[in-house]
Amino acid sequence: MTGRICGTGFCVPEHVMDNEELSRMVETSDEWIRERTGIEKRHIITDETTVSMAAKAAEQALEDAGISAEQVELILTATISSNVILPCAACEVQKEIGAANAACFDINAACCGFLTAYQTAQAYIAAGIYQTILIIGSESLSKLTDWTDRGTCILFGDGAGAAVLKAGEGESFRSILHSDGSRGEALTCSGRHWKSGEEDTGFMKMDGREVFQFAVKQVPEVIREVLELNHCKLEEIDYFVVHQANRRIIESVAKRLRTDVRKFPMNLQEYGNTSSASIPILLAELRRNGVLKKGHRILMAGFGAGLSWGAGIADWGI
Ligand code: ACO
Repeated sequence: MTGRICGTGFCVPEHVMDNEELSRMVETSDEWIRERTGIEKRHIITDETTVSMAAKAAEQALEDAGISAEQVELILTATISSNVILPCAACEVQKEIGAANAACFDINAACCGFLTAYQTAQAYIAAGIYQTILIIGSESLSKLTDWTDRGTCILFGDGAGAAVLKAGEGESFRSILHSDGSRGEALTCSGRHWKSGEEDTGFMKMDGREVFQFAVKQVPEVIREVLELNHCKLEEIDYFVVHQANRRIIESVAKRLRTDVRKFPMNLQEYGNTSSASIPILLAELRRNGVLKKGHRILMAGFGAGLSWGAGIADWGI
């Protein structure tokens, strides 16, 4: 048995903050941000929350899959920015959408969160424990962003994406996840309540160059690794759905793999880096726009805080 994605959905906040608006807040420019990152705007929460966006994305995904909330057996919410610590975001989503029969828990794996949820769901399905699983990535990164730090505040945005996985027959692929905690200092966030002293603002802190170098090296490597593990060729992949952090990172990955960059769809220009939500938002958009079609083979790859990185292959079934 393998899990097939049979429905997707996404939700982003209404308020759009473009680069011009940001350049009135910190010393930067639209030109610099576009050139170095590809980002043009990001959506920022006002009344929305991590849970409200997650619930909307989940409802869309369920509708797309044609299943009711009561049929969901497990909800996995990947997030680093839940509304509260307890109860977990997945339980709050369960309440919002009325998925009364589901078990629920959250996954904290930063930008690899959705991939981690995907791999976890596949493992539950392969073990025969659950057949219908809702996986969500949802973030309100604007709450964790230091809006005076031009090295980070230009990058992040808020939003949520969701997918429904159903057990079915067909080719099953093994995903890969890696972590290297010894490099964790490159991207940290102690949280407003745990800040260690005056110098620690509690917001996200990042060594941008270090994360950039890490991503352009590890992502092509893990893509090759997951292809080899599954006896699959690079040319058999129709689309590479890579974590939307920076256009230059994605272009470099495509170049290192000697693959046409048009096989690497991007929406970071519209949403910025939404961490665990970036891959499911992109999947939902590609489905909505008719780019992803039944029979397409996709490869998802993520990287981020931890440091963690990973990849997984899926045959598009809808
Ligand atoms: N506007 C204008 N100038 C800036 C800005 C800004 N927003 N930010 C930095 N600069 C300046 C720097 O101060 C520096 O000036 P200096 O040369 O006088 O010291 C210069 O621009 C170059 O800075 P770099 O940091 O070398 O710029 P770089 O080209 O590396 O781009 C960036 C920085 C965009 C952050 C890049 O390193 C990057 O995208 N890194 C990866 C980040 C990432 O993807 N993180 C998310 C991981 S996922 C997760 O888990 C959340």
